[in-house]
Formats: sequence, structure tokens, C-alpha cells
Amino acid sequence: MQLFKALLSQLLACAAVLGLRTLFPLPISVWQAAAMQACLAALCSRGFRQPVWWLPIHLLFIPTILLGLSWQVPAWLYLLMLLLLTLLFWGTVKGDVPLFLSSSAVSEALIEIVSREEAQSFVDIGAGFGTVVVPLGNAKPDMAIVALERAPLPWLLADWRCRNLTNIRVGRSSFWDQDLRQFDVVFAFLSPLVMAKIGEKVRREMRAGCLFISSSFPIPNGVPESVLELNDRRKTKLYCYRIGRI
Ligand SMILES: C[S@@+](CC[C@H](N)C(=O)[O-])C[C@H]1O[C@@H](n2cnc3c(N)ncnc32)[C@H](O)[C@@H]1O
Repeated sequence: MQLFKALLSQLLACAAVLGLRTLFPLPISVWQAAAMQACLAALCSRGFRQPVWWLPIHLLFIPTILLGLSWQVPAWLYLLMLLLLTLLFWGTVKGDVPLFLSSSAVSEALIEIVSREEAQSFVDIGAGFGTVVVPLGNAKPDMAIVALERAPLPWLLADWRCRNLTNIRVGRSSFWDQDLRQFDVVFAFLSPLVMAKIGEKVRREMRAGCLFISSSFPIPNGVPESVLELNDRRKTKLYCYRIGRI
């Protein structure tokens, strides 16, 4: 659905620019037309209520193609870029959460929280490159850690980074298929779009008294036990929910 909306936005914007150029033959350059197309595509995307991370894609799509054509980039490079982006972002076109990474302040705060909780088990649902689980695995060698990541390239990198950390298992599976009952602390850095469904999942599966921590995005209608504001660039907020009292 997202891919369809993206294609439609691009096509509508192309049609609008071509139509305008035919009706009003203004002396604008190809680059100015590309800039107009990019802005219109971004507007259409907002109109179709696409998630906000589509904006840079729409803004850069046609200008990047033009740049490639003017530099005479070989065709195989486009294919390679497409392959790398697909392996990196995998389900994003279908509406999955894209890859963006937590700061070191987040992993430091998590180390403090799991120590205070005396947690024996931890899972990062959507682990990216292992930005959170690697420092956690080093700091807490006795804690059993699971990192779940669906996109192939981030999963490969996370798996490689965890190769010497025997307390971490990196799984290439969807967190929707993972039962959360076995974990004392569950961590997520996902997207506002999935938080209501995640809220249902943690309420249904996690044991009473355990902790669910969501970076940046609260559970709609959930009552956090505490909210930590970190001193990193994004001023990340960690929403901590005590199961049984959400
Ligand atoms: C915002 S990133 C967070 C990465 C990491 N947890 C961190 O804090 O740095 C979200 C990650 O979740 C992954 N993801 C999205 N949907 C997923 C799913 N259903 N199962 C497993 N991973 C998923 C994405 O591929 C992406 O790497």
C-alpha cells in the first residue's frame, strides 16, 4: 500500500509538472522542474498520509536520477544501490518501521535500568545494528539477551557484532511472532504507527511486574510508571511501563 501511494505521488507530481510546462511554457530549467516535482511529490505523499520518513525519499528521488544521468553513472550502480537499500530497509515499503539508531545515552540508561530491576532477560524488538544490545551484552554478561531484527543487512551486522557475546542471541525473525512472556525487560524503538498494537501485545504476553520500555514513542492511552528524558541530541524520552499497571 505504501509503495502504491509512493508511486502515485511521484506520478501525480510528474504529470502536474509536465502539464504546467505544456500549459505555461515558462523558461525553467530541468533542475527547477525537478525541484518542483520533488516538492509536489512530497505534498502528495503527505496528502496520502504516508509516514513522515517518506518525505526525504520523495524529495530526493527525481533529483538523484537526474544527477545520476548527468554524471553518467553506470547502470549496475543503480542496481547495487537498490539492492543495498532493499537489504537495509526491507519491509519499510510495506509500512514496517525503518532503521534509525539509538544514541549511546539510551544504552547507558538501559544498563542502569536493567541493573536496578535485577533483570535476567532482555529483548530488543527491532534491534537494528545491535546499537543497544552490544553495550548491554558487554555490561551485563550474565543477562540473557535476545535481539530480533527482520531486515537482512542490519541483522547480518548485528549478528557479526555479537559474535563474541555468548549471552546474546540474534534472531532474524519478526518480533510479532515472538512471545514476550520469557523476558523481564522488553525494549522497543519503533514508530508511533505500531505503538497501539505493541501496547496490546505487551499487555497480553508480558508477565505482571516486568518492564516494557519504549524509546521516543508512548503507548496510546498507556500510563507509564516513569518517563526518562535523556541528555542526547534528540532529547530521547524513555517511556517505562510496569506490566499490570499500564
Ligand atoms: C528504529 S530501528 C531501532 C534499532 C535499534 N533498536 C536501536 O534502538 O538502535 C527499528 C528496527 O526495527 C526493525 N523492524 C521493523 N519491523 C520489524 C519486525 N516486525 N520484526 C523485527 N524487526 C523489525 C527495522 O528493520 C529496524 O532495524
